[in-house]
Amino acid sequence: MTVPTIGIHDIAMATGRYVMDLAELARHSGVDVNKYYIGLGQVAQTVPAFDEDIVTLAATAAQQIVARHGVDGIRTVLLATETGIDQSKSAAIYVQDLLGLPAACRAVELKQACYGGASALQLAAGIVARDPEQRVLVIASDIAKYDIDSGGEATQGAAAVAMLVSADPDIAVLEETAGLYTANIQDFWRPNYRSTPLVDGKLSIGAYLEAVEHAWKDYEARGGRGVGEFAGFCYHQPFIKMAYKAHTRLLEMKGIEPTTARVHSDLAPTTIYNRVIGNSYTASLFVGLLSLLDHSDDLDGRPVALLSYGSGSVAELFSVTLAPGYRRHLRTAENQAAISRREPISYEKYRSLRELTLPEDGSEVVLAAEGHNPFRLRGIAEHSRIYQAVHAY
Ligand code: CAA
Repeated sequence: MTVPTIGIHDIAMATGRYVMDLAELARHSGVDVNKYYIGLGQVAQTVPAFDEDIVTLAATAAQQIVARHGVDGIRTVLLATETGIDQSKSAAIYVQDLLGLPAACRAVELKQACYGGASALQLAAGIVARDPEQRVLVIASDIAKYDIDSGGEATQGAAAVAMLVSADPDIAVLEETAGLYTANIQDFWRPNYRSTPLVDGKLSIGAYLEAVEHAWKDYEARGGRGVGEFAGFCYHQPFIKMAYKAHTRLLEMKGIEPTTARVHSDLAPTTIYNRVIGNSYTASLFVGLLSLLDHSDDLDGRPVALLSYGSGSVAELFSVTLAPGYRRHLRTAENQAAISRREPISYEKYRSLRELTLPEDGSEVVLAAEGHNPFRLRGIAEHSRIYQAVHAY
């Protein structure tokens, strides 16, 4: 029996309503803005409207895929997030309902910090390998929020990326070899009673770098490609400088001099979107991939390495090969529009949005329409989030 190629047949993204330039945060914090612009490599961050959450972002990204490919054959929706809205019910069910996906469908939420999206992709590939007629909708959706006036605040952001995983994919073939690494470490976590994470920033940077080394070693031990074979390197980008640190570590490990020019040319096309969106946790790696695809010369038939890191921690090094003609299937204009149509806001507006909270005592609320995406959170009634489809994308 011939095993079909399996991978990303379609990929689309969404982000939120507002954008805050980090000069605004610097105006409040008194920090030299170059710490953010240069030290972290971040210029701006998406700030969601109050009626946007991970479900509305996920549905906005996935709707573009459903509009192009329909719903036939989709029997699984995997939604990865670390911004869970419920302790029990999967956010994937709300997306299944909003998009009119078949009822004969498994809808599940996955969690392992920023790594969840990569794990969903691999699980999806397994489902398609067993039955190549099936297609799996994989969505990574997150809103990164840290304590006010904390070091992490400059790295906040929000986005969702949806991918259709199928046999004979139009965009990228998932290669079989993967390098894995898990270590029980308290670098970043969010107990159920908190809305923001606890984070040891310096420990998290070290843990990420350590994980890069171990995941690459495991990848090599399993017969993976050599560093020199890759046409691109996408890393999880909690902030752009982190990807630079990770790639520097990899090159050093392989005995390649990590000159500024080399690291920059290997990574620059992957960083254009996340530099102005900020961290989107599970989605960040795939926003990096979209940035590469939308800003590269032809990568037809060429392999790209992807490194996912989720605090706590799990890392995976895997790779895709771009399908011949993949460029015809990209949504470069839509991706750029999602970023450019965000409305710039001041630090004061950002603070006023941060101070809004949904009721936690079971009381009901109706939210004013604010976001500009096709789906919105209308409010809470009977302890349930009520979503609304506003308009077509
Ligand atoms: N001009 C240029 N650069 C400047 C500068 C200036 N005026 N002032 C400072 N810098 C540089 C610093 O030298 C430093 O660069 P290096 O790391 O290359 O030395 C950089 O700016 C940051 O400065 P600090 O380390 O002093 O910044 P900080 O103490 O405020 O914290 C942080 C930075 C730890 C990343 C913090 O933003 C944080 O906690 N972020 C959240 C956690 C995180 O993103 N961790 C990443 C790994 S974990 C992960 O990847 C999972 C995930 O998504 C969370």
